Formats: sequence, structure tokens, C-alpha cells
Amino acid sequence: MRLLVTGGAGFIGANFVHQSIADHPNVTVTVLDSLTYAGNRASLDTVADKIDFVHGDIADMDLVDELVSGVDAVVHFAAESHNDNSIADPWPFVQTNIVGTFSLLQAVRRHDVRYHHVSTDEVYGDLELDDPDRFTESTPYNPSSPYSATKASSDMLVRAWTRSFGVRATLSNCSNNYGPYQHVEKFIPRQITNLIDGVRPKLYGEGRNVRDWIHVDDHNRAVWAILERGRIGQTYLIGADGELDNRTVVEQILEAFGRDKSDFDFVTDRPGHDMRYAIDSSLLRNELGWTPQFGDFGAGLAATVQWYRDNEQWWRPKKDATEQAYVAQGESAV
Ligand code: NAD
Ligand code: DAU
Repeated sequence: MRLLVTGGAGFIGANFVHQSIADHPNVTVTVLDSLTYAGNRASLDTVADKIDFVHGDIADMDLVDELVSGVDAVVHFAAESHNDNSIADPWPFVQTNIVGTFSLLQAVRRHDVRYHHVSTDEVYGDLELDDPDRFTESTPYNPSSPYSATKASSDMLVRAWTRSFGVRATLSNCSNNYGPYQHVEKFIPRQITNLIDGVRPKLYGEGRNVRDWIHVDDHNRAVWAILERGRIGQTYLIGADGELDNRTVVEQILEAFGRDKSDFDFVTDRPGHDMRYAIDSSLLRNELGWTPQFGDFGAGLAATVQWYRDNEQWWRPKKDATEQAYVAQGESAV
């Protein structure tokens, strides 16, 4: 199978490329990535001689058309992905997440190429802490941030192109990923690299917000299961029953560094901050037989801490600018 992977120099996309090369030897991979601040060629260094890398924009319709005409399937990861950035400046989110997805859909429609759309549980809005229900494939869309609104828009385009034009698409909406190669702007790598630098972790609000953590390799195994065996037109929710509040996660990171579990600071909360995400992944498990292999979040987190300790050359160049951006966005201790 010839695969076009968009956003393959980003966190989940790079891990997907690594997994594809390791577990699917009959697959050839072309990566299309515009190398925004979030993209990093170095994330693909160990597979550089096994893939084709194209430096370009998913909204460049001529380029996308040419690349799509030469593959059997597209797996679409490329996005502006960070909520805080979407509040500071929403425009790149509209351009990449909506217009970029449109560009890909038109090309797969023209060339009748199989398409898998990678999306987020944030399209469903948030849950109360004591809500007994979790998100399912039939939960109504109710996005809160510019990021999640543009992802929701892109999902709707995919559904419309499937129904109106017969595009052979599947969709997946996954919960919060952790693991190697995640940008230091995101919660877990930010706190790990702060601690390596001797800086106290920073918790938004009261640290009570809950995220449903899944290891990036489990997410990507689910994407492969859907690509190979998913029903056309179907959405699958991906989650590993990993609900934890942010304070508990910070305490576990502090523990991994041998620090007191109260060694963190509360900082300005995110405007419109979603309280809780929680995924019911029964459909994926029952229909496609997927189960997460990283059952123990503590062990996965410890391995992730070790990865950031061992790979400072990968994250160090991005660290100062990331922290300066948080200050520029008005973050301060409360
Ligand atoms: P990321 O920000 O780490 O990587 C995004 C990649 O897309 C980068 O390499 C960037 O250079 C590239 N990119 C951005 N704009 C582009 C454009 N216009 N053209 C080409 N390439 C472009 O993101 P991530 O965390 O790896 O997320 C990947 C996908 O998974 C996104 O669609 C995101 O919505 C979705 N998702 C992420 C999570 C998570 O926890 N990180 C959870 C569920 C779903
Ligand atoms: O749910 C899936 C989504 O998970 C993906 O669609 C997004 O692309 C991905 O970025 C992630 O979104 P979140 O906003 O949940 O992730 P983030 O890492 O930004 O924050 C996780 C939680 O931690 C959230 O409640 C905000 C909080 N937080 C974040 C940072 C950066 C802090 O308390 N302190 C921090 O310094």
C-alpha cells in the first residue's frame, strides 16, 4: 500500500510513521508536512532513508492533487493542534484545519483514494466531573475553543464528502495522547522539561480538569485497525479508559523526579477551559478487536519522562520560545 501521511513531522504523525515502517513492511510512506513551529524533521531521522518527505502545505491544492494521485490511501494528521494558540490567534486554525482538509477531500474525491481523518474528542465539548456518561459516536457536537471548532468543521466536511460524493473515508476521534516526540507546549512534556530545568510545574485553574490519557502508540494502532478494517463512513472513538485530573498527573511527574508532590504552581486558567473529556471506545473494541497495550499510565509516563531526559537535543531548541509565548499570552502565577 502507498500511503500519504500528512503532518508526519508532528507528534502523533511521526509516531505513526515509525509504527508503520516497523509493523507494516509492505507499506511505502510519503510524508507531507509544512514544518510549522510544531513540526520537526528530526522526529523522522531514524526512518529518513525509508520514507519520502515532501515539505509543503496541505492547503496547496495543486501539490496535494499531485501527491494524492500517486497513493492508495491518505492518513490526515496535519493540523494546528494547540488550544492555547487557537485562543491567542485563531486564523491559522481556520486555514489549516478547515481549508487544508477541504483541499485533501477534493483530491481524494477526484482520484478515488481511501482517506482516514484523524480528529479529537474535543469536538463533543466537555462533561461535568460527576457525569456518569462518556462520549460515544452519537454524542452531539459542541466544541468550545477555536481549535475544537475548526476540528469539528473538518469532521463535518468529511461526513458531507462521504455522503454527497462517495468519498471512501473513515474518521477517528481520540482523547489526549502522551509519549515521545510531543511538543513542549503540551501539558505533560511542558512539566517534564520544566522539572529538568529546575522550574516548578504549572497547573491551570485548580488542576481539577480531567483528561482521558492514551499512549500515542495505542492511538496509532487504532488508526491502523480502522484504516484496514473500518467501515466506510463510520466514526470510531479511540480511548484507553485513562481518566485523570491534571493535579494527579503533575503529582506523578513530580514523583518520577523524586520531588515533593506539592512542588507546583497554580497559574492563570485557560479561557473557556473544558472540564472533562471521557471516551467510551466500545465500538472500536467490539467491532475491530482493538485493545490498548499501555494499560498502566504510570509505566507509560515513566518511560516518557525517561525519553525527555535522554533526548534533550530534540526538545531544547523549542523550549525558551515556548515559555516566552506563554508569558506573552498573559500566563502568571495566581
Ligand atoms: P502537532 O501539532 O504535534 O503536529 C502537527 C503537524 O502538522 C506538524 O508537523 C505541523 O508542521 C504539521 N502542519 C501544520 N499545518 C500544516 C499545513 N498547513 N500543511 C502541512 N502540515 C502542517 O499535532 P499532534 O498532536 O501530532 O496532532 C495530530 C492530529 O491528531 C491533529 O489532527 C490533532 O487534531 C489530532 N489529535 C491530537 C491529539 C493529541 O492529544 N495530541 C488527540 C486527538 C487528536
Ligand atoms: O483531547 C484531545 C486533545 O488533547 C487534542 O485534540 C489536542 O490537540 C491536544 O493538544 C490536547 O488538548 P488539551 O487542551 O487537553 O491538551 P494540553 O496539553 O494543552 O492540556 C492538557 C490539560 O492540562 C488541560 O486541561 C490544560 C492543562 N494544562 C496545560 C498546560 C500546557 C495545565 O494545567 N498546565 C499547562 O501548562
